[in-house]
Amino acid sequence: MPVPRHVAIIMDGNGRWAKARRLPRIAGHRQGVEALRRVTRAARELGIEALTLYAFSSENWRRPEEEIGDLMGLLRHFLRNEIDTMVREGVRLRILGNYRVLQDDLVRLIDDAVARTASNDGPILAIALNYGAQAELVSAARRLAERVAAGMPVEAIDEAAIDRELDTQGLPPLDLMIRTSGEQRLSNFLLWQAAYAELLFVETLWPDFDGAALADAVAAFGRRQRRFGGL
Ligand code: FPP
Repeated sequence: MPVPRHVAIIMDGNGRWAKARRLPRIAGHRQGVEALRRVTRAARELGIEALTLYAFSSENWRRPEEEIGDLMGLLRHFLRNEIDTMVREGVRLRILGNYRVLQDDLVRLIDDAVARTASNDGPILAIALNYGAQAELVSAARRLAERVAAGMPVEAIDEAAIDRELDTQGLPPLDLMIRTSGEQRLSNFLLWQAAYAELLFVETLWPDFDGAALADAVAAFGRRQRRFGGL
């Protein structure tokens, strides 16, 4: 059975999970972090080479200040607690998006975690923080324009050249994109990279997602016929 090399997940439904239990939204996000831990482990066991998770979009700044603070607190906690495990298990941490605008201590934690795991050779865990696919493409276009201004021929801009300018540079091609909680949108996530990805929308709310749900998603991927434009 074919296993997707690179899986991306839009982890949606934390708020609804909490609401259904009359709990504050932060309780849903906390359970969301537990799901993230379970799924990261399961991805490794399934042989997935790269797992990319949408933790905070560039549009999430529109949420109430308190919720943003809670999410940043969870991220801080996650990085402090998981870094040793990631180092031990050979996971390589990558960040997509402009995380440099986050609080200084978070930027330091992230830089430290990325540096400490950079020479690992295990699976890649890519976390999207303050990420938006359109902004990612704008940055790529600007960098390529600068190169052209400096003398690079326009013809040198091809798909591979754009790939190299994206935050996902060096990751395997995206095979499978999953969104939980029944919503069927890409919400500005990996728009370029999803060109040939299989899309899977599941009803499960993210805090209820687990290794078995990921295995089901991988099995569903295995049943799809991928043609990449051919017959
Ligand atoms: C969507 O649920 C989820 C998010 C906006 C954030 C996902 C974040 C986590 C799983 C935890 C923090 C991440 C790390 C890396 C520590 P929603 O709030 O939009 O749910 P709703 O649509 O039901 O309201």
